[in-house]
Amino acid sequence: MVLFLPDLRFIVDAAEGLIFSPAILSSSKNTSFDPATGAASGTTLAGADRERLRLAIARFSDAAASLVHHLLPRYQGKVSRARASFRPAEVAGRQTSWRKDDTRLHVDSFPASPVQGRRILRVFSNVNPEGRPRSWRVGGEFEVIASRFAGGLSLPWPGSAAILQTLRVTRSRRTAYDALMLQLHDRMKEDADFQERSPQEVVSFPSGSTWLAFTDQVSHAAMAGQYQFEQTLVVPVDAMMEEARSPLRILERLKGRRLA
Ligand code: SIN
Ligand code: FE
Repeated sequence: MVLFLPDLRFIVDAAEGLIFSPAILSSSKNTSFDPATGAASGTTLAGADRERLRLAIARFSDAAASLVHHLLPRYQGKVSRARASFRPAEVAGRQTSWRKDDTRLHVDSFPASPVQGRRILRVFSNVNPEGRPRSWRVGGEFEVIASRFAGGLSLPWPGSAAILQTLRVTRSRRTAYDALMLQLHDRMKEDADFQERSPQEVVSFPSGSTWLAFTDQVSHAAMAGQYQFEQTLVVPVDAMMEEARSPLRILERLKGRRLA
């Protein structure tokens, strides 16, 4: 499910207009902001311009956290804020490897930052100054998709998590859950039949709108659009109203063992 707030506009001030250019990107596809350190990254901007971008994302980060605080009081005190981003690149036609190609349906999973079973809740605002929408495809039920691919998802061998952490491939321990979610992300993206024929609908988010989704569960593909803010929040499964419907518990049922 995607929670759509059609009239909740995040306002970019005139003085912040310099962020509306893909040229502000360094090598990555997003500029990002780490609420833990207050630092911005992924941009070629320097000096006062960089500070403007940093403050714009920081302001979005605060607004998104406040929105979740008020909209989802159940998670108060349990949800933690991860990175926020500003995405100035046009999504349509972007050249990238299949694994990084977010125009293919997928669920989110982070290679370097394991969530260890916790949920990925994301807040998005389309701020396109020309009024262009952000266009997504939204796929079917997680349980159905996980069941389709479960047989091809293999448990990591014992010891691999410790090695990945020692080598700093991961920032914390990659649990069996994280390993399976990364594989699920890849299996979905590389399956052309799944991409074309699985149940899905096109959803268009107008400029000036905001939406929220558990993107570890809602399969999605971003097809077109430019200039979007995003904030990632992480929520423990025991904060859920129906923990049994979390990807962690669904994969545990399918695999017949604890995963995190
Ligand atoms: C994604 O999380 O796959 C991309 C979403 C977006 O940038 O609209
Ligand atoms: Fe995604």
